[in-house]
Amino acid sequence: MKAIVYTKFGPPEVLQLQEVEKPTPKANEVLIKIYATAVTKEDPDMRASPGFNGFLKPRNPILGQELAGEVEAIGRGVTRFKPGDQVFGIDSFGAYAEYKCMPENGALAIKPANLSYEEAASVPNGALTALPFLRDKGKIQSGQTVLIYGASGSVGAAAVQLAKYYGAEVTGVCSTANLEWVSSLGADRVIDYTQEDFTENGKTYDIIFDTVGKRSFSECKGSLTDKGIYLATVPTPVMMLQALWSAKGGRKKVKFAATGLRPASAKSKDLVFLTELIEAGKIKPVIDRCYPLEQMAEAHRYVEQGHKKGNVVITVGTTDKKQGEKI
Ligand SMILES: NC(=O)c1ccc[n+]([C@@H]2O[C@H](COP(=O)([O-])OP(=O)(O)OC[C@H]3O[C@@H](n4cnc5c(N)ncnc54)[C@H](OP(=O)(O)O)[C@@H]3O)[C@@H](O)[C@H]2O)c1
Repeated sequence: MKAIVYTKFGPPEVLQLQEVEKPTPKANEVLIKIYATAVTKEDPDMRASPGFNGFLKPRNPILGQELAGEVEAIGRGVTRFKPGDQVFGIDSFGAYAEYKCMPENGALAIKPANLSYEEAASVPNGALTALPFLRDKGKIQSGQTVLIYGASGSVGAAAVQLAKYYGAEVTGVCSTANLEWVSSLGADRVIDYTQEDFTENGKTYDIIFDTVGKRSFSECKGSLTDKGIYLATVPTPVMMLQALWSAKGGRKKVKFAATGLRPASAKSKDLVFLTELIEAGKIKPVIDRCYPLEQMAEAHRYVEQGHKKGNVVITVGTTDKKQGEKI
């Protein structure tokens, strides 16, 4: 099968299209023929430098977390899926390829019927981050005021839509070019961070969700209501201490989570929930650009600029889409 492989850390050129062995599912696994994957914010980081994916060389030579495709074969113990099922899901590695095996109890679910494979592959990363932050950490309630900082990113765009679904009054913060687009996702108000610092406008919010790690609790504390909660996807050591301290007694709280480390069972349950929301038209996938697998390096170059709008999707297999083409 074809896969994008890298054997050393470095610039986008280390990503090479290669022929590698097609995997065989174990007893508890499904073999998925991947039709679409995505380049998340973390992928270029893991490509460029030692860290999460090894130190001397990449521990997993095939990157790629999100996927959508069709179950081609199943292990003898599998009962949850059958060949022909159209699925979507997320794993830590291995989705920049034509095939991947996943445990049947992995973060995998039947894909929303009304989405293309490209659209389905764009959902898990952002939505499976925004949902546990807002629902489980923020305990979001209808009628609350919620500010989403970085509303145009993968996590932010999902957060705006989910906060609206939960009945909140949503303010999205983004740059000038994305104001209209963030409004179209359902934000009641938008603030252009290049023109206005929301912490100075005197308004307060029940939840401030910094999805992009550009603000701090100290800066935002004055913009929280009396029992307001500050959610951070990218906590600093200071914020972690503030979270510990505020959990004990402070009225305004800081909370963070490592949503990727949640059990696969919790993620797959949430994928089913998200599917219901998507099929009911309550939330929609957001795709900035789509690249064919062969143009992975180009996709990485775009994502690492840090200004993608929602998600960057990769079409795997037969495609007539051009490099960077919008879908
Ligand atoms: N804790 C966890 O469990 C967890 C899970 C998933 C992700 N994360 C982290 O969450 C962060 C966001 O992920 P993501 O996938 O949403 O990233 P992303 O899609 O790459 O974010 C891109 C967006 O960030 C916006 N942005 C850049 N600089 C900004 C600024 N100064 N102020 C406001 N917005 C700004 C950009 O908007 P403009 O073009 O308008 O600037 C762009 O739309 C990443 O650092 C990721 O590693 C954490």
